[in-house]
Parts: sequence; C-alpha cells; structure tokens
Amino acid sequence: MGIRCRCGDTCIKPISEVLEDIELFYKACSDCKTEKIKKFSPLAEQINLDDIDTHFGSCKCGKRQLDIVMAHVLKVMIDEGIKDKKANLRNACVPLVTPGYPSNFIPYLPENSLVILSNEVDKKCAEKIVKEVGEVKGVLKGDARKTVGIKDSDSDSHVYELLAGCDLRCDIIHTPYGALGIYKYQHEIHIEFPEVKPPKIGILEKTLKDYDKPSVLDCTCGPGTLGIACLKAGAQKVVFNDIWRPAIEITLINLEANGFPVKHSGNEGELIAFGDKFEVYSIDIRELANYLDEKFDICIVDTFPGVDTTEFIEAAGKLGKKVVVI
Ligand SMILES: C[S@@+](CC[C@H](N)C(=O)[O-])C[C@H]1O[C@@H](n2cnc3c(N)ncnc32)[C@H](O)[C@@H]1O
Ligand SMILES: [Zn+2]
Ligand SMILES: [Zn+2]
Repeated sequence: MGIRCRCGDTCIKPISEVLEDIELFYKACSDCKTEKIKKFSPLAEQINLDDIDTHFGSCKCGKRQLDIVMAHVLKVMIDEGIKDKKANLRNACVPLVTPGYPSNFIPYLPENSLVILSNEVDKKCAEKIVKEVGEVKGVLKGDARKTVGIKDSDSDSHVYELLAGCDLRCDIIHTPYGALGIYKYQHEIHIEFPEVKPPKIGILEKTLKDYDKPSVLDCTCGPGTLGIACLKAGAQKVVFNDIWRPAIEITLINLEANGFPVKHSGNEGELIAFGDKFEVYSIDIRELANYLDEKFDICIVDTFPGVDTTEFIEAAGKLGKKVVVI
C-alpha cells in the first residue's frame, strides 16, 4: 500500500494491520498504574503537578492510562498559563484516541495515540504538549461544538487549526461485513465518537439485506464509511461523491487502506479516481445527475444534522430507485 501521511511519517497502515492488535492496544499490563482522578475537581488539588516522576512516569510496557495522559496535558496547559489552577480534566480539552474503538473501560495509551482538541491552546503550548506528552501525536485548536467541513454548497466551510504534530486519526467501525478503519485528518473531517453498534450501519444493513450485489451511490460520502461498507458487503459497484474535497482525498486513502486499490483518473474530467468496483467524484449532489448517466439500486443521503434534505433527496431520486436517508 505504502501511502505516506501528509506529515511525512508512516501514520497510514493497512487496516488489516491496525486490527491485528487492536484489542491489546488499549489494555493495561499487570504493572500499569491506575490513578483515580476526579474529573470535576481541580487537578492541582488532587495531585502535586510538580512531582512529574510520581504521577506521570510511564509503565515499563510504555503505556499510561488516558486520565493520566490528560492530566499531563492539563499540567502543560497550566504551566503555560493557558489554564488556571482550578482547571479540571472535564474542561481541559477533548481527547480523540487513535485508533478510535468503542470500549467500556478507560484505555491505556501507547505513544502517538491521541489527538487533542482545545479552543484555548496556542502554538507554543501545542508544541510543548506534543514534545512532552509522548502519547499525543497532534494538537488542534477549535470548538468541538462546531462541525468541521461544509454543511451544504451554500454554507461557509469550517476547519480546525492544526497547531502541532499530525492530526491523522483512524476510527474502527464494526459492520456485519467486517470491521472498517476510517482515517480522518481531524482538522477537516467531522468528529464521530465510535459506538459498538453505529446506528447508520444498522440502517445500511436493513437496506442491503433486500438486495443481492446492488449498485450504490454514496451521494455525500464524507470519509467514505458507508460506501466502503457496501463494497465489503459485496456491492457490484459503488460511486462515492462529496462536495468537500478533503472528504474525497481521505476517501481515496480509506479505500486503499481497506483493501480497495485506487487508480487516479489523471484527466481533466469530473471522475477523480476509480477502482475495480468503484468511482469517485466531487460534485454538488444537485448536479450529479448531469454527470452520471446510470441508475443505481440504492442512493445513500447522509447529511449533517440540521441540513434541509429536501433537495438532496430530490436530486438522489433522479439517480436511483431507492433513496436511503441516514
Ligand atoms: C454527515 S457527513 C457524511 C458522513 C459519511 N456518510 C460517513 O458515514 O462517514 C455529510 C457530508 O455531506 C457533504 N455535503 C454537504 N453538502 C453537499 C452537497 N451539496 N453535495 C454533496 N455533498 C455534500 C459534506 O461535505 C459531508 O461530508
Ligand atoms: Zn501523519
Ligand atoms: Zn503497563
């Protein structure tokens, strides 16, 4: 596969490799420390923030509990004057573990397994976090409540700012057709927290069971999750489309990483890339029917919350018999 990450490092691995040791990835060894930190109480009142070795030392297995890693991040933020001494873990920043995997216990993290999102951090503090907290691979500045990307063609786009390191993360999504790994450069692709049974996969499963090898149009594919699930389910053809160019760039990475080799079309037309059973476009859904002259068994429309889907459904209806709104 051998796709280089934008950061120049080897962040992108085939998903089959990522899945091999995913269970072990989060687990503590018998020597790992568990620090009980109350999330809503000031951190500085619970542990001595200057006693780095006692509280923040790594276990010999190289991992630390997520709460300890977050406490270390918060300590750097307090040292840098970004947070005051009353700050607690709850209001520190948003931890985005990679690979993101639904689990009920607090994960123990190895190096380069966490992206941090904070609305307050500055570049100097971000660089210090990446340097001093080994588990953190990247720091983003942004408001977690604001969706990243573009809601519709006439909305303004919104991105977070990458202040330090690399923000490429991978979410593991369980599907009846096998697990998928969905990479995201998190400053330009919206955050989704992994769930044991993602509802949208449930809707997809219900639809797919009525078909044998359907053709599918993933009208608003984002990073490609649903279309790739359809390929895994044995679809005869999937067309991926999204108006947001960064979504298409990451869809190509996700196709390749999940075992569907990508060929770039290299011409001036609308077709960006293709493979054995798929094509990839980046066109406003309202225009799609002008470029695709085939009809699909299933058209998937998955928009951001709050988007009026009327025109999306109408546009998808011109291209397929069944429109599934997710
Ligand atoms: C909720 S996300 C899709 C998530 C995706 N189905 C997944 O599971 O990963 C909605 C997507 O709609 C795309 N979008 C918004 N307006 C669009 C338009 N007019 N035409 C095509 N795509 C659009 C956005 O760029 C965004 O990626
Ligand atoms: Zn990277
Ligand atoms: Zn350990």
